[in-house]
Amino acid sequence: MNKKLFALLSILVVAAFAITACGGAATEAPAATEAPAMGESVEVFSWWTGGGEAAGLEAMQGVFAGSNPEIEFVNAAVAGGAGTNARAVLATRLQAGDPPDSWQGHAGQELIGTYVAGGQIEPLNDLYESEGWLAVMPETLIPLISNDGNIYSVPVNIHRANVLWYNPSVLTANNLAVPTTMDEWFAAMDTLKAAGVQPLAVGEQWTKMHLFETVLLGSLGSDAYNGLWDGSTDWASADVKAALDNYAKVLTYANSDSSSLSWQDAAQLVINGDAAFNVMGDWAEGYFRELGKAPNTDYGWAATPGSGGVFQFLSDSFVLAVGAPHPDAATAWLKVAGSKAGQEAFNPVKGSICARTDCDPALFGVYLQSAMSDWSSNIVVGSLTHGVVANDSWKTEIDTALGLFIADSNVEGFQTALAAACASSGPCK
Ligand code: GAL
Repeated sequence: MNKKLFALLSILVVAAFAITACGGAATEAPAATEAPAMGESVEVFSWWTGGGEAAGLEAMQGVFAGSNPEIEFVNAAVAGGAGTNARAVLATRLQAGDPPDSWQGHAGQELIGTYVAGGQIEPLNDLYESEGWLAVMPETLIPLISNDGNIYSVPVNIHRANVLWYNPSVLTANNLAVPTTMDEWFAAMDTLKAAGVQPLAVGEQWTKMHLFETVLLGSLGSDAYNGLWDGSTDWASADVKAALDNYAKVLTYANSDSSSLSWQDAAQLVINGDAAFNVMGDWAEGYFRELGKAPNTDYGWAATPGSGGVFQFLSDSFVLAVGAPHPDAATAWLKVAGSKAGQEAFNPVKGSICARTDCDPALFGVYLQSAMSDWSSNIVVGSLTHGVVANDSWKTEIDTALGLFIADSNVEGFQTALAAACASSGPCK
């Protein structure tokens, strides 16, 4: 087992249950072997509608069509980065008893604390057994998608959240090296500001939460960052206050129209040379490649300042709905989502690395090859914005506090609200 990811697992409230190669406790699994009826369809719900994401899904859909020509693939994607809109639509549908057959969910607390807790998704142990997935999925990911001995989703990828994207020409023109610490970053952004260059591109609120989690990590380090999610780091401490001060300062370098920009808009400012830096997950790379941009020329990357050697991860996975209208077709889809062919088609386009451990690295570009190497050698911690470390209720409280902070810039008030959120929804009892 990767010892570093083990450290992450130990902080999660997820019941990290040891699953045996036989799939653990016997729970009736979907009829994996039954052929779907002619003319059947499968509705797959996600938020992948553009910017490299739709193209990745389409590539996997192509593999599905190849092996399941009789099943119509109904793409029920709802636009909006990080699923902010899609998850609200999904919640309404689930409440109304109208689930899509399969939907996108993040490994970790989002999956376990929401869909499993709500009895909304089926265990997939038998599918793991029939497809041999326990031998090819990282064994350390399995506890993040498991509860009480049942496995609940099929991970399609691993994304990295703590990536600092930059425009190499803008840095060169201003004689700047890529910053590796918060202080170096501030100094570089001061230089850029003085030169009349937009230092940092930021988008709508969820991208600010994404930026926030990377600044927490870069300011506190991986152990104290992990401690935020298991109660061992005090949200009211001076160290957290210093991290929040850093975050407040980072925001002073951001574009003033951030709230009206999508993540693609913000990332594009860097590609166009209209801003020097953007902090975004590596789906941005899928977008850059879709725009025909070249790695190391049109865009460069580094771990966000202060987080070198740490991989802040998230994983997209697909589930089988309880009461799925087309369970056999949904099972056929999940088989493709977990397959080598499906993941090799999807990930190089999406800008992520395979969840499976046996994909061919030669299919991936230079950025993703570097991500593969970091994933296997870095300390691994989980993402807040993308569902790993906090359940929905805690994340919503943090988001509310963040929204107020963005409006009033009051660091003390922000810290008090974050400490209160940990006490009411998190482990800080
Ligand atoms: C994340 C998701 C990524 C990507 C991103 C931006 O939550 O895990 O796959 O879609 O949102 O939309």
